[in-house]
Amino acid sequence: MLYGTLVDLVPYGARFMARDHEWWNSEANFWASMGDRQPVTRAQVEREHQEWRTSTSPRTGVSFGVQTKEGMPLGYFGINWLSYQHRVAELGAVIGERDYWGGGYGTDALLLLVDYAFDVLDMRKVWLTTVSSNVRVVRQMEKVGFALEARQRQATVADGALCDALIFGRQRDGWPGYAAMVAALGLRPRA
Ligand SMILES: CC(C)(COP(=O)(O)OP(=O)(O)OC[C@H]1O[C@@H](n2cnc3c(N)ncnc32)[C@H](O)[C@@H]1OP(=O)(O)O)[C@@H](O)C(=O)NCCC(=O)NCCS
Repeated sequence: MLYGTLVDLVPYGARFMARDHEWWNSEANFWASMGDRQPVTRAQVEREHQEWRTSTSPRTGVSFGVQTKEGMPLGYFGINWLSYQHRVAELGAVIGERDYWGGGYGTDALLLLVDYAFDVLDMRKVWLTTVSSNVRVVRQMEKVGFALEARQRQATVADGALCDALIFGRQRDGWPGYAAMVAALGLRPRA
């Protein structure tokens, strides 16, 4: 468990999986997949869950459920891929509950995840890819001190528009820690 200011990151258990069908068919998944609107059936979701439960492949990522301080499931954040040899981690981020966008929940979850990657997993770098039209992520990257490291031109088509893929990265050097970032960004618990 990673305890935050607005959210906690917890094991991705049944309460979260029960929301997957809705989240994977939602606006959140459109952005997370850089422009896909591919409907997913309940059977497909169940098959994915079954594979997660039974897979014997070595784990190359870490998944967390994101929940409010009151315990309401909001989405999933995690490390999609990591290398202990190179000490780099690729992050993934989804607040599946649309009504909670823009309230600081995703930034709190990101701070927890970055801190976990640096402080617990001893990564030296984290990075993620997003679509250029994803203004919320671009804003979040600025706030949390990620640098734009690469732009792949016209890499995707999102709702009919050609968009670039943006790769943002943040080095561990200069990371002041979760508490200092929360203070710097003025994140406060909900009253
Ligand atoms: C991306 C995501 C995780 C961010 O979480 P969130 O809780 O919405 O983010 P926050 O509220 O912490 O921050 C979002 C920022 O974007 C800003 N923002 C929102 N809409 C905006 C717009 N149209 N133009 C510019 N900035 C905008 C918000 O004001 C906020 O910045 P602020 O704190 O300076 O006001 C969440 O929106 C999400 O899950 N989106 C769908 C999936 C996705 O895009 N995943 C990321 C794939 S890389």
